[in-house]
Amino acid sequence: MTVISSSDLYRPSIYTASLLKAIDSNCANFSMNHVLDVGVGSGICLAALGRLGASNMWGLDISKDSIEFANQLLCSEFKKDRVNLVHGDMFEKLDPHLSFDLIVANLPQLPINIGSIDRPPTWGGGGRGLVDRLIHQLPQRMTKNGMSLIAHCDLNDFKKTEELIRSLRLHCETVYEFYVYESVDRFSKISDDILKKHSDQIMFFGPYAISSARIIKVTF
Ligand SMILES: C[S@@+](CC[C@H](N)C(=O)[O-])C[C@H]1O[C@@H](n2cnc3c(N)ncnc32)[C@H](O)[C@@H]1O
Repeated sequence: MTVISSSDLYRPSIYTASLLKAIDSNCANFSMNHVLDVGVGSGICLAALGRLGASNMWGLDISKDSIEFANQLLCSEFKKDRVNLVHGDMFEKLDPHLSFDLIVANLPQLPINIGSIDRPPTWGGGGRGLVDRLIHQLPQRMTKNGMSLIAHCDLNDFKKTEELIRSLRLHCETVYEFYVYESVDRFSKISDDILKKHSDQIMFFGPYAISSARIIKVTF
């Protein structure tokens, strides 16, 4: 029997690593008091923000186990009163009056709904649903000079995301582009329509598939 430890379950992905890179490049000289990670997972992105000087770190997650894991990781490095973790579906349990200088998110968004045995069930697919819900909240949740950094899977149609952001009178910029590996087996679960539409963004090499993704920066 394979035993998977919880630290393996929440291990950083290429999306996490790319978000960390974007945090380093965009936040080093950015004045941050309140910061928020939507879908906090292990807590690693919040920890990076804490190291850059964020005084109040907030994280949301629908998984109670993630919240406990992130709490341990963050409280081993930062004073407890800087860490605020909220268990719930997206913003539902967050005080509606709170706004943030920086919001980061790496939400589940592959356009397939198959789980992976070595990841928690809440890390799955769901397409653009959660990212769209997040973007709709940004005008209320970002401070006037605030910024958001969001991981985006390009199989979810980046043009649609850009249009949604602009329709909310926000500005959108790609700050980091990267490739993501998926097995052809997992890709075979994606609908033919989506695969056809994004054929120029997917490269197949034998049993491997590589698709494109990006980190976007959203501001007023
Ligand atoms: C892909 S993981 C990323 C975790 C972490 N931010 C990272 O980059 O390593 C997505 C996270 O979003 C959480 N999540 C999924 N659905 C959610 C929802 N409806 N509301 C809040 N969090 C959710 C998952 O539990 C998981 O921790």
